[in-house]
Amino acid sequence: MKLMPLDKITHEARLAEPIYNEEGKTLLNRGMVLSEKVVERLKEKGVTFVYIEDEVTADLYPEELLTPYEHQKMLTTIQENFKDISNKMATGTTINMDEYSSSFSKIVKGILEKVAANNEAISLLTNILSFDSSIFQHSLNVSILSLALGKKLKLNMHELYELGLGALLHDIGKLGIPADVLNKTDALNADEYEIIKEHTVLGFNMIRKCGTLPLLSAHCAYQHHEKVDGSGYPRQLTANEIHLYAKIISIADVFDAVTSNRVYRKALLPHEGLELLFSGANIVFDQQLVELFTKTVVIYPIGLEVQLSDGRTGIVAKTHAYLPSRPVVRVVTGSMPYDLDLSKELGVTISACEQPLIG
Ligand SMILES: [Fe+2]
Repeated sequence: MKLMPLDKITHEARLAEPIYNEEGKTLLNRGMVLSEKVVERLKEKGVTFVYIEDEVTADLYPEELLTPYEHQKMLTTIQENFKDISNKMATGTTINMDEYSSSFSKIVKGILEKVAANNEAISLLTNILSFDSSIFQHSLNVSILSLALGKKLKLNMHELYELGLGALLHDIGKLGIPADVLNKTDALNADEYEIIKEHTVLGFNMIRKCGTLPLLSAHCAYQHHEKVDGSGYPRQLTANEIHLYAKIISIADVFDAVTSNRVYRKALLPHEGLELLFSGANIVFDQQLVELFTKTVVIYPIGLEVQLSDGRTGIVAKTHAYLPSRPVVRVVTGSMPYDLDLSKELGVTISACEQPLIG
């Protein structure tokens, strides 16, 4: 299968992977023909890439950490619990996080099991194949990415558990922020920005008061918007003062946000998301953690069309966990496609990727 920008689909292509709505439910099934009308509707919803069936790459399948069933089950649990908390907050009911902690704990243990057994780089396909990403999806993704980075740092199982819960609940305070401010797509004014910032303190207090959630997970919610140069919020902590878990989550948070579809802007490809992290190294993020993160996530997703430095064109066929910037590329220039392993052909690099025409 081939990963194609929606606006470059010229003929009636067939979907090779389903498309999901905001809640993670299948909206368009595998095999469906992408008519002009369907393509328009997907564009309106912020989708920029789709997987289409393609003869030359029929044997290529993208790999993901969770099966669609596991993913959907976790997403539904997060959604049910978050919605319940949000409804209670809207009516002024006091939140007792102890009621929810066993559900959240189960999800983190489920992800942890998968991450511990996985030796491949992480690719979050749902970011490409979903509509405008929700807080449920984002929370799950940040937990997965944080745990994968935590594993690279060789944190022990208990530390990973604290980190995973902190990551899953990093934005829980947002459930108490008025929806009109939270969902605003235009620029926020100074007052609105101050309201948004409160989600860190709100989340900290919600988790801190709960006896069945680790205190360090509460600090993750408190500190995930701090920046290493001291210009973050709410307390302007500097590099040495920010907890390691919060530094990890801040990287996972930004990477997931910029590589997810949004109605008001296109999703960045993973390599662009990583460039953005590098531009914030030593300012926003811890540089060593950013470097380690580039070895944690898939840089070029399977199926993506790439241009090589010697002028050849190909499709990413396989990624190497030990050298993610140098995947195997199926070269399609010429009459017979063949696979070129960039981890062995060191004179050739990826010079450009297939991009949507409109940003
Ligand atoms: Fe946040």
